[in-house]
Amino acid sequence: MKIQFDEINLRAAMVGDAHGLKSSEIKNEQGAALNALAGFRKLVEEGCYGFPHLPFQTAAIEEIGQYAAKVRGSFDTVCLVGIGGSALGAWALDCALHGPHPVQRACGPKHPRLVILDNADPALTMAALESMNPKKTLVVVIAKSGATAETVGVFLMVREWLGPKAAKRIVAVTSEDVGDLKALATRESYPTFHIPKNVGGRFSVLSAAGLLPAALTGVNIQKLCKGAAGMTHLAWQPDLAQNLALRSALLHYLIWTRKNKPIQVAFPYSNRLWGAAFWFRQLWAESLGKAKTRKGETVHAGQTPVAALGATDQHSQVQLYMEGPNDKVHTFWTIARPADPGRIPRTKLGLEGFDYLAGQSLAKLLDAEQRATAAALTSYHRPNCTFILDRLDEEHLGAFLQLLEFQTAFLGELLNVNAFDQEGVELSKKFTCGLMRRKGFEAYGEEFQRYEAKRAATRG
Ligand code: PA5
Repeated sequence: MKIQFDEINLRAAMVGDAHGLKSSEIKNEQGAALNALAGFRKLVEEGCYGFPHLPFQTAAIEEIGQYAAKVRGSFDTVCLVGIGGSALGAWALDCALHGPHPVQRACGPKHPRLVILDNADPALTMAALESMNPKKTLVVVIAKSGATAETVGVFLMVREWLGPKAAKRIVAVTSEDVGDLKALATRESYPTFHIPKNVGGRFSVLSAAGLLPAALTGVNIQKLCKGAAGMTHLAWQPDLAQNLALRSALLHYLIWTRKNKPIQVAFPYSNRLWGAAFWFRQLWAESLGKAKTRKGETVHAGQTPVAALGATDQHSQVQLYMEGPNDKVHTFWTIARPADPGRIPRTKLGLEGFDYLAGQSLAKLLDAEQRATAAALTSYHRPNCTFILDRLDEEHLGAFLQLLEFQTAFLGELLNVNAFDQEGVELSKKFTCGLMRRKGFEAYGEEFQRYEAKRAATRG
């Protein structure tokens, strides 16, 4: 497994003192990075956070693999019902290993298709139900809390759509000891897999939330976890030259806070990594967007993550990135050795605008586009860096996702915020429950009415 981090274009020598880092600035903060590592390690050892352990939970990984092997061949579609961390990891894996986005690979003898219902959007739900055969669909319902309104609403429809023998075509992923999904799974005898208590949704891709849909659709989850395990060993190293996650966390922390870059552009030059870019958006936004430090001081920290796809978004976003406010750090994700380079025919047409490409490859063109964009951004003093995956297979993907999770956790420590809670999303959830008349949420329904009255008065 080989992943590199090219940080040169974050340096002051490349993008200027106002936007880049001097070696001395990096050196001076190495102690802070090592403290972040030690602080996070202590929390993991105390059992507060469990994602670093996931790739080593061989019994759980084997159990998922055995279940997938047992049911193989009895369905052509896996329908995932879940949202946020209970859907994005599965999408990242499916897009990378069975993609690419936006080509939905048709199901075939090789592996079943994955359909993800991650919104309470009736159009999405109805279109998906029409496209699937209930007798050939295995439904995987995922909710750590066991009670997320969007998931529950869509699941009730899907369960009904499955017909009288629904219970035989449903498998649940939830918490072991809380929530109504667990209660229903027990009552209706669904096979059930558990997300450990100390693993939050956005850090759960290597729990059953990501591994079960992956295994059911033919992904080698052992290799995925092997890559993630290798990265975990590196992420505990106190040597910044080896520890990519810690080094990139430190550099991103410094660029963001010292060079005033409130926006992070995740910029994969790979349609296969597009799902991972959306998974990363949630990881970065929910983990680092926080009102208070761990000590309770108000900070309103956060770096807005944006997903851009190379080279497509060179024709959409790069004008802004080059000439708009210099408020972003751009992180390219590239694949050094794509499975198929996509040879361009040698045929020459006698047209100068066409013929120079004859006999080259799309992979070479895409690589040139990425390097050209990095050079152009650099010449406009726009800091950028690149993660280079040698290949895009299970092992590299597992390692890369684990790297990004560690990077986020370390950055949380550097900012002194709790990267593992999400208080900010609770109020809108409570208002929704109030509006939908869930028992126990009446006060939120009333508060919402007061808000509506205020709006009406303001409108005049
Ligand atoms: O990261 C998180 O914890 C959240 O984004 C959750 O994944 C999301 O809210 C879905 O929660 P649940 O799995 O309980 O349905």
